[in-house]
Amino acid sequence: MSATATGPHRRALLAGVTALAFAGAARAAVATPARHAVLIRTLIGQMTLDEKIGQLNQAPGGRQRALNSRIDAAQLDLVRKGGIGSYLHVAGADFLRELQRVAVEESRLKIPLLFGIDVIHGFRTIFPVPLGMAATFDPDIVRACSRVAAIETSVSGLHWTFTPMVDIARDPRWGRIVEGAGEDPYLGSRIAEAQITGLQGDNLAGKDVILACAKHFGAYGAANGGRDYDSADLSERTLQEVYLPPFHASVRAGAGSFMTAFNDIAGVPTTANQALVRGQLRDQWGYQGLVVSDWNAILELINHGIAETPAQAAALALKAGVDMDMAGGVYAGHLKEAVSADPSLMPYLDQAVGRVLATKARLGLFDGPFRFGDSAREKTELNSPAHRTIAGEAARKAIVLLKNEGGLLPLSPAGKRIAVIGALAGDASSALGSWRARGQVGDVKTLLAALREQSGATIDYQPGAAPRGDDASGIPAAVAAAKASDVVLLVIGEDFDHSAEARSRSDITLPGVQSQLAQAVLATGKPVVVVLMNGRPLALADILGKADAALETWFLGVESGPAIVDILTGKVSPAGRLPAGLPRNAGTSPSFYAHMPSGRPADPDLAKDSARYHDVEIGPLYPFGHGLSYASFAYADLVIDKPRIGPDQAVAITLSVTNTSKVAGDEVVQLYMRDPVASVARPVKELRGFVRVALKPGETRRVTFHLHAMQTALWTTADRWRVEAGRIDVMVGASSDDIRLRGSFTITGAATTMEPAASLLTRVTVS
Ligand code: BGC
Repeated sequence: MSATATGPHRRALLAGVTALAFAGAARAAVATPARHAVLIRTLIGQMTLDEKIGQLNQAPGGRQRALNSRIDAAQLDLVRKGGIGSYLHVAGADFLRELQRVAVEESRLKIPLLFGIDVIHGFRTIFPVPLGMAATFDPDIVRACSRVAAIETSVSGLHWTFTPMVDIARDPRWGRIVEGAGEDPYLGSRIAEAQITGLQGDNLAGKDVILACAKHFGAYGAANGGRDYDSADLSERTLQEVYLPPFHASVRAGAGSFMTAFNDIAGVPTTANQALVRGQLRDQWGYQGLVVSDWNAILELINHGIAETPAQAAALALKAGVDMDMAGGVYAGHLKEAVSADPSLMPYLDQAVGRVLATKARLGLFDGPFRFGDSAREKTELNSPAHRTIAGEAARKAIVLLKNEGGLLPLSPAGKRIAVIGALAGDASSALGSWRARGQVGDVKTLLAALREQSGATIDYQPGAAPRGDDASGIPAAVAAAKASDVVLLVIGEDFDHSAEARSRSDITLPGVQSQLAQAVLATGKPVVVVLMNGRPLALADILGKADAALETWFLGVESGPAIVDILTGKVSPAGRLPAGLPRNAGTSPSFYAHMPSGRPADPDLAKDSARYHDVEIGPLYPFGHGLSYASFAYADLVIDKPRIGPDQAVAITLSVTNTSKVAGDEVVQLYMRDPVASVARPVKELRGFVRVALKPGETRRVTFHLHAMQTALWTTADRWRVEAGRIDVMVGASSDDIRLRGSFTITGAATTMEPAASLLTRVTVS
């Protein structure tokens, strides 16, 4: 079935796909301009070995919640000696101006410092957590939020953020699922592009932009059992088809830096993985930017058991292509020893130094070391009304309506008595999520405050139970409030510190006594709206089964409360979609919609031996892509413009979507594909396009997806992707489990490409 395209044909194919990949995010890996190349060569020629190693040293200037706290006189001396290339966990226009001044005025070579910080979902204006941002299915709002984050970060004197986390996460036990875009590589690729282009703008030397960092390369999200930092033992196919595409999309979007993961893939820690970092990322994908280790990860190569001494660990990481050592001090303390033991490391060292200097040059720091940081604008930009407006829009777009039986929502609260139960309703700190850079609890408008201000209802608030802990003494008062109410808002989930780094959980039901609280409230028989707040998909089949309506609200940031109230009251119709399915229980993890068909597909009949569990229903409670609306939508008239295409051609898949209701709303139209007969088993469905369309009551729009044959390619051995001849089925619908229209086309020949299929953009037009 397959043939390898060679010569001009193959080049044409690759050119075609490259054009396609660039269609939505036209930023290439940037070559160093000649002027900078000369400067860098000259500097490297002048540098001592210690000064070179200094450039590779990224030191913590503080701690995550105590920025700048470690910058003392000894650190300033180190800067003067050229011993530091970069600081992380620092902030503040005036503070960083002074630190930079020491570097560019008092060090011998006057090389500027690079200042980095984790701005994961906002700097001071905090947006929804990344999983919530992905739930918007709207790259434009993601880009807009990243733009705001870049403005606030850069006026505060910083050049670099360790964002986006593009790790695919298919196991909700893994706490860091909150930091990424969920389970799907196509969605993950689009969200990654949006974040990177929002942070970096068109030109890193421009105004109000910062350097992005795609992390954690390459299969951090595949940690065994969902245990953070654990080994990823996955097939080459899964690595290439599922985990790497968002990284490839990040390269195409121009990400200026990459971070390697803490963990190993089949025994090879990525921080020392030459084949992956130097080979795949740099040589095959053409990535020219900076690679930084994760925090202390070079030293941890000793724990992994592949180095005996810090000098060996340093040599392994350097050879793999890791340019900068984050917080480990291993390059600073031991690279000299490694280089004298093995002078063949010298060219690697010079390359790494060159890349650090090139990054500083790209950011315009040699021309204007103080161009970042503006203490006047710091006062006006941070948490500005304009930025909060964007945060509010993102928060509204991120909310997912999971169920709405009997049309309980939207509520008409005026004059009603609403029991608000659950401590998370008033928990401003949790609304900020786990990463908050300079976010302030006082900036948050909570759900409770917004209900009191905006709803016109009598609010009877009873915390009932804290998000964790075993104090059940508040439950009777909560039940009494529920009984006396017209409707209950049951606000349950996790607090902000129950997900994110090193926050894996084996039990992903409600922590503490919240289940007891929820069951007691549900038993009152009052209408109950569950409002979930959490950083991971929770397993709540029983509670969600009994509730009348449920909203997934993640942690929505500073405008959390007003956004939820707007959705509850129908001011805005919900349209967020699940970027990762909600499991029925933790024992089914990892599971995902894009699974292989199996020779014995899951069968509802337990008498048949099939690919399922005996003690739980088939599939997730709510699947990937699920999300309801107050409006209703009809899909019709699917047309595929060509029944047959060559492997270097595209089809246009067009359909109509109509708002058949009396309320305005957005619909997220999703395109899935399947290769039904291939040389290897293919997933039952794979997302290959989506668009969030706003539709007025009665309005119809035509949506066209431009799908290229290359986007059906599968990974083969020998580092290649192959488009196979044969039929491709396409499915269009409102979720991965709500397919409304089907069609197919045939690819008439085979071809080879180098681009991961899921990383390529499907252009969508709406008329
Ligand atoms: C995390 C990274 C983060 C870094 C710096 C590490 O522990 O894994 O995602 O960017 O710390 O804070």
